[in-house]
Amino acid sequence: MSAFLGIDIGTSGTKTLLVSATGKILAEAHASYRSYHPRPLWSEQDPEDWWKATVKTVREVVRKSGIHAADVKAIGLSGQMHGSVFLDKNDKVLCRALLWNDQRTAAECEEIEQRAGGRRKLIQMVANPALTGFTAPKILWLRNNRPRLFDRTRKILLPKDDVRRRLTGEYATDVSDASGMLLLDVRRRDWSGPLLSRLDLDRELLGDCYESEDVTGTLTAAAARRLGLTTDCIVVGGAGDCAAGAIGTGVVRSGVLSSSIGTSGVMFVHSDKMEVDPRGRLHTFCHAVRGKWHMMGVSLTAGGALQWFVDHLCEQLAGAGGDPYKILNREAGKIPAGSEGLLFLPYLAGERTPHADPDARGSLVGLTLKHTRGHVTRAIMEGVTYAMRDSLAIIESMGVPVRQVRASGGGAKSALWRQMQADVFGKKVVTINTEQGPAYGVALLAAVGTGEFGNISEACAATIKVVSETAVDRAQKRRYDSRFPLFQELYGSLKGNFKAISRVES
Ligand code: XUL
Repeated sequence: MSAFLGIDIGTSGTKTLLVSATGKILAEAHASYRSYHPRPLWSEQDPEDWWKATVKTVREVVRKSGIHAADVKAIGLSGQMHGSVFLDKNDKVLCRALLWNDQRTAAECEEIEQRAGGRRKLIQMVANPALTGFTAPKILWLRNNRPRLFDRTRKILLPKDDVRRRLTGEYATDVSDASGMLLLDVRRRDWSGPLLSRLDLDRELLGDCYESEDVTGTLTAAAARRLGLTTDCIVVGGAGDCAAGAIGTGVVRSGVLSSSIGTSGVMFVHSDKMEVDPRGRLHTFCHAVRGKWHMMGVSLTAGGALQWFVDHLCEQLAGAGGDPYKILNREAGKIPAGSEGLLFLPYLAGERTPHADPDARGSLVGLTLKHTRGHVTRAIMEGVTYAMRDSLAIIESMGVPVRQVRASGGGAKSALWRQMQADVFGKKVVTINTEQGPAYGVALLAAVGTGEFGNISEACAATIKVVSETAVDRAQKRRYDSRFPLFQELYGSLKGNFKAISRVES
């Protein structure tokens, strides 16, 4: 038999799946690790922890499934995007990796724009503006703040690609993850020589760039021994977790959008052509589908806003024994669409799309004596969904068609939230047969790499099926449509106050 491993190096832990050639999940395993926050806006992890978690979970899934080592034909890697692993000439990790949610690089973002000849020029070169989470600003931060470490740096790899190095001995990445480094010419799907030279960075610092389904190497003898696999096992390019998640949801053709509500909210759309938002509000990255692109809007706090409400303001519900989310869902379901005038801005951790504003704050506006916990819950869900509609509006304004929305993540489990998405977005919302996300997506890419499927679209068509559909309720849609402009105006009205709050508190 043939089996394929999908390994997702996430932020809270690594998830590994073993998948059969028909797409059946044979076994899964998870191992967590910690993040370090040595200063308020800093976020780091130890690459050694990713490797230990990989070894542990791979051994576990192979053991649980009972298959032979030689049956594992290929590995696909996915992972948190944008993180930076700095290696010296002996492949020694020079310091902990800076993560996607590390915000220390505001000065370096300005430096990049200025060296590039301005924001517009930068967007022309790499399709995106400089954002604090991206990799290039982290590299400049090391050069500006830890020059001795920078001088010793010979290679810079993304999280999943450091695991690849330990598996295969190769320095390589894939085009979807590479796009988030801000050093890739996203149109040509190769490193941007002009930007590298303006930033005074050597091309040799980076690995080779592959399409997601291409083979980047085979396991070394040492890695095969450590994992209990064979040296015939190949490793394909894989993908950043957003593109991998979209593959795992079957978003591999035009007209289909993935709406994922986890801690953050991601609106991800496949595109046959490369489209760039000239204002840089959406990310334009290479897709994990050969020769295709995707656009993506990221709301930093989506399900995370509801989790905050449950953890900090509804503690008694968690203590009562029932599922607090189910109780709150029931209460919110009894409140009319529009929450009777209560509006919520979900910017509890600042916001990326569309505002790119680290100072933005969460806000509950329009409270009256009539409002109950159910109103607040519903307003939170509506606010998150409006924030994701902001991304959808930009996607559609660029002429990218959206005919179907595929809901995934924790938010897709709630029938109320699925209906709300259909009505706020004005689109049919569907769910699919698998909830395994990025790890499943890269296991499919691994299968394509062995020739089991002709390409990733074929693999998705064979394994991913729509299992539920939620149609738009026209009356509710009208209610939301009349409130959405109010939601949009609120950020504009409060923006200055957010800045002032941030100034006073710092
Ligand atoms: C994408 C992003 C996050 C990370 C962590 O741009 O920053 O989704 O990939 O999962």
